[in-house]
Amino acid sequence: MRAAIEAARSGLNVALVSKIYPVRSHSVAAQGGINAALKENDDWENHAFDTIKGSDYLGDQVAIETMCREAPEDIHELERMGAIFSRDENGNIAQRPFGGAGYPRACYLADRTGHTLVHLLYEQTVKHGIFIYDEWHVVSLVHEDGIARGVIALELSTGKLHRLHSKATVIATGGYGRIFTTTTNALSSTGDGMGFAINAGVELMDMEFIQFHPTVLKRTGILMTEGCRGEGGYLLNSKGERFMEKYAPNAKELASRDVVSRAEQTEINEGRGIDGCIHLDIRHLGKEKIMEKLSQIRDLSIQFAGVDPIEKPIPIRPGAHYSMGGIMTDPSGSTTMTGLYAAGEAACVSVHGANRLGGNSLLEAIVFGRRTGAEVGRFCADNEFSDFPTSALKNAGHMVGNLINRTEGEDPHQIHKEMGETMVECCGVFREKEKMAEGVERMAKLHERFATVALTDRSDYYNTELLSVLELGNMLDIATSTLMGALAREESRGAHTRYDFPKRDDEKWMQHTLVTKKGDEFSLSYKDVSFTKYEPTERKY
Ligand code: FUM
Repeated sequence: MRAAIEAARSGLNVALVSKIYPVRSHSVAAQGGINAALKENDDWENHAFDTIKGSDYLGDQVAIETMCREAPEDIHELERMGAIFSRDENGNIAQRPFGGAGYPRACYLADRTGHTLVHLLYEQTVKHGIFIYDEWHVVSLVHEDGIARGVIALELSTGKLHRLHSKATVIATGGYGRIFTTTTNALSSTGDGMGFAINAGVELMDMEFIQFHPTVLKRTGILMTEGCRGEGGYLLNSKGERFMEKYAPNAKELASRDVVSRAEQTEINEGRGIDGCIHLDIRHLGKEKIMEKLSQIRDLSIQFAGVDPIEKPIPIRPGAHYSMGGIMTDPSGSTTMTGLYAAGEAACVSVHGANRLGGNSLLEAIVFGRRTGAEVGRFCADNEFSDFPTSALKNAGHMVGNLINRTEGEDPHQIHKEMGETMVECCGVFREKEKMAEGVERMAKLHERFATVALTDRSDYYNTELLSVLELGNMLDIATSTLMGALAREESRGAHTRYDFPKRDDEKWMQHTLVTKKGDEFSLSYKDVSFTKYEPTERKY
């Protein structure tokens, strides 16, 4: 939405296509905050340093400096649009500490930051006259001669396919947490845009880096914001010990997410967990503070874990949360295909490298959404429409028709289940060669079975089974890319932790992984990391 608003500001006729209603976008679940160096004793270079260190030095330093330098103005613009950020005692925007950050830098709206920003941006899309095709699912990206021409989209309420011809196309479809059995991500986070991109020959970058958030509820994977620890919450093992003192003596619970998740998993694996979990204790914050700053967390914990955190600790564990990788772009959102752009979690600029800091994902979406919209404005001013290939609609019609009409074949729900289980077993917080190799093989077999998948619902109107099969195709490609990248990367860096290669290897692996797909074949190549002035050192918190 931020990209659409900026493109509309340059006078373009902009449409937004979304398989869900825009205010149901998964960004609503970003609870804890959005980073910017606003206060006198902080500055954007501190923010850049923390982000680069957090990325385990894999983030591109030019992109990170751009994001951190431009962050304060973007926050103030959000405020001018109407974001009512929580305030400090002087009436200024309040900022809470977040993991891996040297200063309290996360601006927040209680524990509903993403929710508020999504609604705010939606109002702005309406204000700018942006047409919204809601509940339209993109089936394919249309391109010819290396130029993006638009998309073919399925109108879910009628089952009709439509061609949407555009000068420029921006993919902003978020992450793909749903390749795991449980995740903090909404059901809609199926990485569709990354699926269209890789099938159109566009590179995905650093897909092996998946963030496991340290505090998610056991059964559902629902997020308990890092804001709980930012406000002073503790993590306790079965002995009642604040075990983070052992793993990160200075930052403790506010070390970066990869460090905290590994520590929790180690405690659980070594028998100091509580029923497969760790305790997140916020009781000492007191009822008043919990009700003021973490009221949604309290509601979620009561509803989904049966625990009132005012009275008892919340049982949590690490859970799949965020994709550091995505469609390779530069800081203007441009991909390697003319007229194709990407922004937000779907893109890999790369500002997160091997591990993202909390509060940098909303920021990335806002800063690079704005920059991408502006670049699209420039591109469209300088270029004419390219033709829309007449075969595109027919091909999409055949593909969807084949799916709907096949009466016998594999059960897509079973394939989905096995994909999720494979990712949990083979590509979790700790990884090793044999398991990842097994995962690659299992995924290849799932791909084969997917080719003969059959639906039970043949209706035109709101055929959600058809939607889930289209999503599954994208997820299988993403899961394969993730496993292949992880298997090949023989080191431990950020969120990618291997038992068999426990050390970071800058000599060999200070490189981004690129994945491409030709026909059914996936292949890997590598690209240098961009540096400015921050030299890689050992990370300690
Ligand atoms: O913990 C959280 O509130 C999540 C924020 C984020 O992923 O940036």
